[in-house]
Amino acid sequence: MRDSLLIKAAFSEKTERPPVWMMRQAGRFMKEYWDIKNKYSFLEMCKTPELAADVTMLPVNLLGIDGAILFSDILVTGEAMGGDLSFTQGVGPKFANPVRTQADVDNLQTDVSHKLQYVADAIKVIQQRLNGRIPLIGFAGAPFTVMSYLVEGGSSKDFKLTKLMLHNEPQMAHQLLSKIAAVTADYLNMQIAAGVNAVQIFDSWAQALAWDDYKEFSHRYITEIISRLNRKDIPVISFCKGSSVFAPLMAEAKPDVISIDWNVDLLDIKQRLPKGIAVQGNLDPHILYADKKVIKERIYRLFDRMKDEPGFIFNLGHGIMPDIPFDNVKYAVDIIKEYSY
Ligand code: CP3
Repeated sequence: MRDSLLIKAAFSEKTERPPVWMMRQAGRFMKEYWDIKNKYSFLEMCKTPELAADVTMLPVNLLGIDGAILFSDILVTGEAMGGDLSFTQGVGPKFANPVRTQADVDNLQTDVSHKLQYVADAIKVIQQRLNGRIPLIGFAGAPFTVMSYLVEGGSSKDFKLTKLMLHNEPQMAHQLLSKIAAVTADYLNMQIAAGVNAVQIFDSWAQALAWDDYKEFSHRYITEIISRLNRKDIPVISFCKGSSVFAPLMAEAKPDVISIDWNVDLLDIKQRLPKGIAVQGNLDPHILYADKKVIKERIYRLFDRMKDEPGFIFNLGHGIMPDIPFDNVKYAVDIIKEYSY
């Protein structure tokens, strides 16, 4: 796997073309996803290794991407710690017992690896099916983003309760974040032991934070997690929406790759990062709604811009939306594989 396009690019080595994978590449934009989803709940799919493997393999077989990503969710750590998690169509994730008081924080468990064993089992099944073809990316949610779901009890527009906890009860917030960070580091090491070839840390909602709060309540814990990973030959990708603002800090946590959103010129940001940190990104996912001519023009424009910079993985700035035409996603992957520097 060390010689695959994805892992080489992640370690800032030269590749003949940029590797491609896409966040949410296994999901609702695929008819074949719905064929499975109509029979099982989302959590059943995550917790049944054969099903998680079936879904993980969809974009491998149907799109021909250069990296598979484990089919799971960032909130399984919160569930293992004691969160009563459910996913309802059209509503999204819910924790029925939100974490809002000191007693709630104290009640959360941290010795939970055994409860996440189904993820290790899924990784083993997926690796058998991949049979060395392409790398498998494992992942976890970053402490701040997982905390936001635990505290709000679900998705939020403004993260009001979470930010109130940071601002009014910083000690309690730190206890909660420390607990999530400890679980997350163990969980990612478990995924590495089970056989993933790279890991991505999703801090999807860190962009809600002011710079100082990001430093104190997010960056600090991501740094702690990354420092604890058994990362020999396993690149660490750090993702946050808002990475174009926080990238200089994210680099200090020492990931191998920073995933960048679409607000910035990717070459410009890469050149301002320390040498040896690769970038991933940064197509606006809305481009995949556009005409094929536009899709090709925008992707090749990005590639031409990045051609003299080793350490570039093609991805979207955020996940594929459920109503993006499958055919456009397939087209994007096809023309990426035709490109050569
Ligand atoms: O990328 C992949 O294909 C791998 C699987 C994956 C899922 N979730 C599957 C999923 C990954 C990497 C995630 C991460 C995740 N989950 C994040 C971070 C990435 C990001 O989007 O910023 C977050 C914030 C979550 C939490 C979550 N899970 C939300 C908010 C939702 C519902 C919102 C939505 O998009 O509808 C989910 C559900 C979820 N996770 C689905 C999938 C395929 C949809 C489930 C369904 O079929 O109903």
